[in-house]
Amino acid sequence: MTQIAPMGAGGGAHPTEVADGANEDYPWDEFDPDAYFIHNYRHLRDDDREILSQVRDFFARANLSPDARGIDVGSGANLYPALCMLPFCDRITLYEWSRGNIKWLKKQLRRHGPAWEQYWHHLIESGPYAAVEDPWTDLQRKTRVTHGSVFEMTERALDMGTMFFVAESISKWVHQFESAVGGFLGALRPDAPFAAAFMQNSHGYKVGKIDFPAVPITVSDVRRYVGEWAKIDNLYEIGMGDKPLRDGYDGMILVTGWRR
Ligand SMILES: C[S@@+](CC[C@H](N)C(=O)[O-])C[C@H]1O[C@@H](n2cnc3c(N)ncnc32)[C@H](O)[C@@H]1O
Repeated sequence: MTQIAPMGAGGGAHPTEVADGANEDYPWDEFDPDAYFIHNYRHLRDDDREILSQVRDFFARANLSPDARGIDVGSGANLYPALCMLPFCDRITLYEWSRGNIKWLKKQLRRHGPAWEQYWHHLIESGPYAAVEDPWTDLQRKTRVTHGSVFEMTERALDMGTMFFVAESISKWVHQFESAVGGFLGALRPDAPFAAAFMQNSHGYKVGKIDFPAVPITVSDVRRYVGEWAKIDNLYEIGMGDKPLRDGYDGMILVTGWRR
């Protein structure tokens, strides 16, 4: 069977025979949300602080009504994209494929871990976030966790969305990166604001003992594939700073914009 090859270090896709590296080849139900959370989010990092600031200020400028319907795709063990949408939404869907992550997210919504308060404290430094009286009750009341794949999205008209570290981190195939970007942006209505984050030039990552895949994408890949679906507001390259998250990537890319 001819497939699109995994993207090599030099970028670019070409047809070849590939037997693995696709999204469906990985044991997503065994993704360990506690290990992932501890490694990535227990302490608020400078790169995530920068992402929070840019996303908060972009959504605050977007003139959203407070009854928007938002979606975070591939939420994993990360609540901060949902917190970024909280003041604007009366319904937030956390859309996730891994059963283990779904269980973890539902538990966090019933009783959030204290680490998430660092993220909220950063958000309330400006914009409409400070006016939210009880963010944790609001989060619980407004948010639903839904099982589904980014490749099979049925939503088409949501008002805002986030997708952080998903499209490039769920397979080795550039055509699955492209489909995931299209699945996410296709779920939004025209002119809906969104924020998406990507690992730059990532060669995969370990969660617990399991290796998960990545497509080593660049800024120009993000510009190209997101640009097919959206008007880009801003694109940020976020360097690794003094404390890289791990080996095998070159920083993060954040894009904000509006669905065409
Ligand atoms: C690298 S993690 C990112 C998690 C989180 N968004 C974050 O910001 O840290 C990739 C996430 O994509 C999810 N995922 C894998 N395949 C998926 C699919 N086909 N559709 C939706 N989510 C998927 C994984 O279960 C995991 O939660």
